[in-house]
Amino acid sequence: MTAHTDQTEVEPSPEAARPPAPPDLDYRLRQQAILSEFGVEALRGTDVDHLLQRAAELCAQGMGAEFCKALEYQRGADTLLVRAGVGWGPDVIGQARIGADLASPAGFALKTGRPVISNHLADETRFRTPQLMADHGIRRAINVLIENRDGAFGVLEVDDTREGMFEEADIAFMQGFANLLGGAIERQRTESLLRAALARQDLLAREMSHRVKNSLAIVASLLALQARAAEDPAVQMALADARSRVEAIASVHDQLWRQGDKDGDKAAGEGEGVPGELDLAPFLEKLVANLASGVPGQRLACTACPQRISADRAIPIGLLVNELVTNALKYAYPPETHPGGGEIRIRAERQPGSLVVEVADDGIGLPAEFEIGRNSKSLGMRVVGSLTRQLGGSLTIPARGKGACFRLEVPLDG
Ligand SMILES: Nc1ncnc2c1ncn2[C@@H]1O[C@H](COP(=O)(O)OP(=O)(O)OP(=O)(O)O)[C@@H](O)[C@H]1O
Ligand SMILES: [Mg+2]
Repeated sequence: MTAHTDQTEVEPSPEAARPPAPPDLDYRLRQQAILSEFGVEALRGTDVDHLLQRAAELCAQGMGAEFCKALEYQRGADTLLVRAGVGWGPDVIGQARIGADLASPAGFALKTGRPVISNHLADETRFRTPQLMADHGIRRAINVLIENRDGAFGVLEVDDTREGMFEEADIAFMQGFANLLGGAIERQRTESLLRAALARQDLLAREMSHRVKNSLAIVASLLALQARAAEDPAVQMALADARSRVEAIASVHDQLWRQGDKDGDKAAGEGEGVPGELDLAPFLEKLVANLASGVPGQRLACTACPQRISADRAIPIGLLVNELVTNALKYAYPPETHPGGGEIRIRAERQPGSLVVEVADDGIGLPAEFEIGRNSKSLGMRVVGSLTRQLGGSLTIPARGKGACFRLEVPLDG
């Protein structure tokens, strides 16, 4: 942004030779106060139309002028459109256009970048009086350029029908407005570009999750087909387990894609969602419902508090819950000892600095040789051990009266 207070274009009339009127200190101090008031508004970042309108109002007020307008340069048509203003009728604002050529005062300011004062438009040899101004009986005008790093935005112009003199100090006052406007417009443009880029990134992330989910669903159904074709029940079981693990990952991607919408985020009570994050509660509920649908008659109860979590964490947590619940479904209530089945409880709650996930049942309890981690003879508990390490968490088996209980604690930042 550049301020143009030097090299002002002033008409070469005999009036210019007159000694300047003694500066009215109160008047200039009032202008400064008005300008700084606008500075605060420009920083607040209201929309461009509102800012242009406020600038026109305050500028006219500060200069005791009848008319002020903010003109936007329309490059294609090489004209200046009146976007905001005071003193002008509603048929002018947003509609009237002024030539942006060097022969109009505003066009001159735009094309040369120099402020223009014309205190006697009727006697001007430098410019013609634009029709709009002639129609309103404008006698004098003062124009400054509104620009920023993107180039010239337009012109701020103060006009009056009464005799009088615009002065160099008025240029400084108006250029202050124009500079603030230029900066605010540039910032808003940058912000809206950033917002659009973020929305696009969010859309791409969701689209990716949707596709990954579809691909994983294909893998899961292939495993189901293979399981059906296998004759050995052990192979069938292994393929069914593999399928359920793939489905747990697919479910995370499904939620990532679905929870992108605002309602999902509001339901989580966490305001706007961050791309790549999801709410753990519906994710766990859906995962548990999927597992329950495979074993009718079993009672699965899931209570989870809303908690936004990254997909990187949701996937291992989901897989871990999948392993523990699958185990409980398989082993906790053997039909010979528990013909009526029993309850399996899944609970996720936020604690200071951590997330606690528990899977518990009231069944036969864990065998004596049971071990989690690398030393476990079966794959399930080795997977559980490695997922716990991946999460940087800890998995404990709290002593309980009956059944099995697993408690996963995952540290959370913030
Ligand atoms: N909730 C439970 N109640 C009773 N026994 C359990 C429970 N969970 C696990 N077990 C016992 O612990 C053993 C080890 O579990 P693990 O998940 O490692 O292996 P698995 O389920 O037999 O095989 P996979 O590798 O397919 O998971 C099981 O075979 C079972 O005997
Ligand atoms: Mg298992």
